[in-house]
Amino acid sequence: MQFKRWNDICLCAERDLFPADAVSVEQPFAPLVFLVHRDGKTCRGLYAVSSLQEVGEEESLRCLLPVADSDEDTELSRFVAKNGATVLNTAFQNGFSVLQQYLTPKRGGYRVTLVGLGDVGGTVLTGLKLLGHEIDEIAIFDPNTALCDRYEMELNQVLQAEDGKPLPRVTVCREESLFDCDLFIFTATRGVPPLGTQVRDVRMAQFDANRAMLEAYALKARQAQFKGLFCQVSDPVDHLARAVFLRSNCDDSGAFDGCGLLPEQVQGFGLGVMAARAAYYAGKEGVDFSQGRAYGPHGQGLVVANCPDDGYDDALSCRLTELTGTANLRVRDLGFKPYIAPGLSSAAVSILRLLRGEDHYGAVPLNGVYFGCTSRMTWQGIKLYRESICNELLKRLEETHHQLRAFDYT
Ligand SMILES: NC(=O)c1ccc[n+]([C@@H]2O[C@H](COP(=O)([O-])OP(=O)(O)OC[C@H]3O[C@@H](n4cnc5c(N)ncnc54)[C@H](O)[C@@H]3O)[C@@H](O)[C@H]2O)c1
Repeated sequence: MQFKRWNDICLCAERDLFPADAVSVEQPFAPLVFLVHRDGKTCRGLYAVSSLQEVGEEESLRCLLPVADSDEDTELSRFVAKNGATVLNTAFQNGFSVLQQYLTPKRGGYRVTLVGLGDVGGTVLTGLKLLGHEIDEIAIFDPNTALCDRYEMELNQVLQAEDGKPLPRVTVCREESLFDCDLFIFTATRGVPPLGTQVRDVRMAQFDANRAMLEAYALKARQAQFKGLFCQVSDPVDHLARAVFLRSNCDDSGAFDGCGLLPEQVQGFGLGVMAARAAYYAGKEGVDFSQGRAYGPHGQGLVVANCPDDGYDDALSCRLTELTGTANLRVRDLGFKPYIAPGLSSAAVSILRLLRGEDHYGAVPLNGVYFGCTSRMTWQGIKLYRESICNELLKRLEETHHQLRAFDYT
């Protein structure tokens, strides 16, 4: 292993993946970043590790399990165990500038762009306005300019609570400033199937039209060399997150060139409401859900578990999965489009938890798909929540991961 100093960061690699102006040093120092070169299309780009074993670990669902014990006891392994480190895949042109952005995180004062002010977008905006004390400004955008003006007026007329905590200011975003932000939240759709229509899956039915609409935004993110986080909320969340990542990294001929967003710069937000719905139905059935988990996509392939390891009950977990996966239909049956719990749980609360560095539900890159699970955004990169998962549950997760991977994006 070689160590080099670059902009007060210690880069470490087995071969010459260093920037030209990096200077050799003898010893590792913090912040430590391992440089690797892996296939950009299917491998992670920038993530946090707590042990040296994780640096070379094969990318799979096993990354959600505790790290296997190792006999390795070297100065470097002890350094990583003590200080943590980052892994950066040099397959991406903007990797080093995004790395610098991560390692010098903001603490509050965020600028957020919110695109799409329909039912979900309006609810997300309301949630962020009331709860997002660390956000300075929410810049809103929708082709319906009356909607923008309406929300600019109404949400700047919200009274501050007695606790005196600051509320973000809401502004109307100009199209050329869309990516002048830390977080870009996308809730727009070309059309949710209306109530009463017979479609097998209201989420997948939107894929083609929403992907086509998102292409323009993915391209803008690429052109702006966006360094923040693209939060994908509209459906189908997990597939569109991958479509944004792929499109931002393709040249005009459609070839993947790694000149767009790193995989971790896109995150899907749809699992939060699934976890909340699962807890709701567990409560209705008098089932303990204090150890409950949700994994996988916001839709077909969702996996709910009453508990990840000892105490996992497959029949109960499959029943909760079914109730959760069809919960939206029960609201639709009442004659309403469900958007309040989704806007608040999947997006507003989950995104704020991410900003606060807390565990949250989101779809993060894992072995060529965006996989819904618990993770944390740290200054060293995304950290997956690792814990024991019993084989029966792991098998369900593998099936769902396999289905996501088999999806055809061409
Ligand atoms: N992630 C979740 O948990 C979750 C849950 C429920 C629904 N959703 C999804 O959220 C999305 C939004 O649903 P909704 O009920 O708010 O829809 P909606 O029809 O009420 O609103 C869509 C908005 O998108 C805007 N829009 C259309 N084209 C646009 C473009 N090119 N650029 C910017 N904005 C554009 C429209 O003007 C409209 O304001 C849907 O895909 C829905 O399925 C997600």
